[in-house]
Amino acid sequence: MSHPILAAYDLKKSYGRGPNRFDALKGVTLEIFAGESVAIVGKSGSGKSTLMHLLALLDKPSTGTVELGGSDTATLKGKRLNETRNKTFGFVFQQFFLTPGASVLENVVLPLKIAGIGSRSRRVRGHAALDRLELGDKAKSKANALSGGQKQRAVIARALVNDPRIIFADEPTGNLDSATGAIVEDILFGLNREQGITLIIVTHDEDLAARCDRRVYIRDGLVVTEEARVAA
Ligand SMILES: Nc1ncnc2c1ncn2[C@@H]1O[C@H](COP(=O)(O)OP(=O)(O)O)[C@@H](O)[C@H]1O
Ligand SMILES: [Mg+2]
Repeated sequence: MSHPILAAYDLKKSYGRGPNRFDALKGVTLEIFAGESVAIVGKSGSGKSTLMHLLALLDKPSTGTVELGGSDTATLKGKRLNETRNKTFGFVFQQFFLTPGASVLENVVLPLKIAGIGSRSRRVRGHAALDRLELGDKAKSKANALSGGQKQRAVIARALVNDPRIIFADEPTGNLDSATGAIVEDILFGLNREQGITLIIVTHDEDLAARCDRRVYIRDGLVVTEEARVAA
């Protein structure tokens, strides 16, 4: 079998020190293969976001390793770390993290700007990503003028603009009504199916988790069970 695209080995993460120390992850091992959709499921406070931040190289573990394409990521630092994260991953968070006063297009091309891509090319790729999410006519609107569903579609456009191999979604439908949430889910799973983008979705929504190829259940900083999709 090939390398996992992303893997965690005995990850531990503690916050604080001494009597204030809190062990958020207590030794998590997880291998994710290219093209999979994986749900990380657990109650609030179980360590899901902590695990996602470590897998996405947004934070460092206290101990343990994260491997990307079979290589240890511990040696990635500074510019190389940012470049790797920027070109490999797309992010879809519950809280959107759009800059409200900037245009939708400016928000969507931010990863390209960070990557140092020129303004003309940014504009072309930004419009293409917006068109894919059926937001082409909103390019010039301010981000805060969008509805919740449109905001999340703009976030997905931003996640896609760099052609990532992996999309991380942390409670992607948490702030949306169920009809809008269903549309956002369909878009994410469409990208997985049609473009082979690996999906890693953090959720406490069992229905969303059930749509993934695999579910990893986290409790108190440990993986308690892993479950494959039951064939229909
Ligand atoms: N920066 C931090 N400092 C201190 N404690 C934290 C920090 N981030 C998370 N925690 C604690 O770690 C535990 C796991 O948090 P988190 O990974 O956000 O859980 P989940 O996403 O499953 O709700 C929680 O008890 C939370 O309070
Ligand atoms: Mg969380």
